[in-house]
Amino acid sequence: MEDFAEVSYNGKSFKLPVITGTENEKAIDIATLRSSSGLVTLDSGFKNTGSTKSSITFLDGEQGILKYRGYAIEELAEKSTFMEVAYLLIYGKLPSQQELDKFNNNIKQHTLIHEDMRKFFEAYPSKAHPMGVVASLVCSLSTFYPESQNPNRSSDAVDLTIQRLMAKMPTISAWAYKNLMGHPRIYPNNELDYVGNFLNMMFALPSQKYEMNSAVVKALDKLLILHADHEQNCSTSTVRIVGSSQANLYSSISAGVVALWGPLHGGANQAVIEMLEKIQADGGGVEKWIAKAKDKNDTFRLMGFGHRVYKNFDPRAKIIKKACDDVLKELGVHDPLIEIAKGLEEVALNDPYFKERNLYPNVDFYSGIIYKALGIPTEMFTVMFALGRLPGWIAQWKEMISNNEPIGRPRQIYIGDTEKKYVSIEKR
Ligand code: SDX
Repeated sequence: MEDFAEVSYNGKSFKLPVITGTENEKAIDIATLRSSSGLVTLDSGFKNTGSTKSSITFLDGEQGILKYRGYAIEELAEKSTFMEVAYLLIYGKLPSQQELDKFNNNIKQHTLIHEDMRKFFEAYPSKAHPMGVVASLVCSLSTFYPESQNPNRSSDAVDLTIQRLMAKMPTISAWAYKNLMGHPRIYPNNELDYVGNFLNMMFALPSQKYEMNSAVVKALDKLLILHADHEQNCSTSTVRIVGSSQANLYSSISAGVVALWGPLHGGANQAVIEMLEKIQADGGGVEKWIAKAKDKNDTFRLMGFGHRVYKNFDPRAKIIKKACDDVLKELGVHDPLIEIAKGLEEVALNDPYFKERNLYPNVDFYSGIIYKALGIPTEMFTVMFALGRLPGWIAQWKEMISNNEPIGRPRQIYIGDTEKKYVSIEKR
């Protein structure tokens, strides 16, 4: 039975179809609103506006539910691997062993980046933020593979670009880190698995072999799974809208990287550690900082807290908090920042200001502490987020292209000057 909503305006009423998703979410389809009523909708930050219908990820913010292609994040984090989850997100199903082996082997063929790209690194200042390096190199991949710029993409051509992106992102990311450290770059080693190869490129030195630690590989693999997709967040929406102009996949992903960089989004994991270190330097007391976070006249926010969708615990934060304890114990690392983080969480979760606004720890609150324990520097935390989110961005772009979605072009309500006559500069 058709479901609809009725809008009454200026003595007329307009019927608009209501669509229902497979998890019973409902939306008013306003495609005909302007042509029938002359009205558009306005929703700054798209807080209540759906941009698409998607089969990739489902979130329930009130229940704290996150599922990739129907599989609960708790199960995938516990039982799957990042490469298997990447395949699931991109191709829509869990792979057979043969499919997964082919996916992994195809990616291994492309882990090198063109030798000419080494010059890019030499052009950057030594302290270049790795996100700026990664964003520009990912976009520059499109200039090394001009065929990727052809909007009439065959599925084989898209698959080849997907393999190249999945393969080269770890290399570009690790080399951005080496640039930051002023260390020589380490080339990919295809004998290693995806996470092991990345860690080796990050931490091996010509003079010193990197000792692979299975606990570190497992923890990083889990973190990448937890970051792999999150429906229409800021950076994913950016990837989709850039791709909707028929821009190539490399440049669409590059746009997602820069959108993720913001401290209100993926940059929050770096901001959380910087906040915890500031509190530590200030004596470690959390009450003062909770008061600052609540003070409307203070720009300080409790980084890693709050979420546009989750009005309950971010399920990823729960998993990361447990993994944090496990990794620190396994590695014998005692990080005082985790005590400060737990103190902040304890006070905030019992404070009416945070409770009334449903502000809970999000994915970024504890992740930085694990990255730190794994020896990854703060400036690389958001790159780690991008590395994890890459298959999600790819899956969302691929879905948008396969559905032939129209170019994204929102409306606006103009509130500027209406009629002004030009006056020559002499008379102004
Ligand atoms: C990610 O969208 C995604 O899915 C993102 C992500 C993903 O996987 O892609 O989950 C990853 O980006 C997680 C979020 C990381 N960002 C942070 O941790 C930064 C700190 N948090 C916020 O700035 C904020 O909570 C946002 C940006 C995450 C959400 O902001 P909203 O939805 O626009 O909410 P808002 O800013 O309108 O806040 C509502 C109220 C306001 O108070 P009032 O005006 O009602 O009095 O809550 C307050 C805010 O001042 N508030 C906070 C707060 N977050 C919101 N107050 C203090 N500290 C905070 N962290």
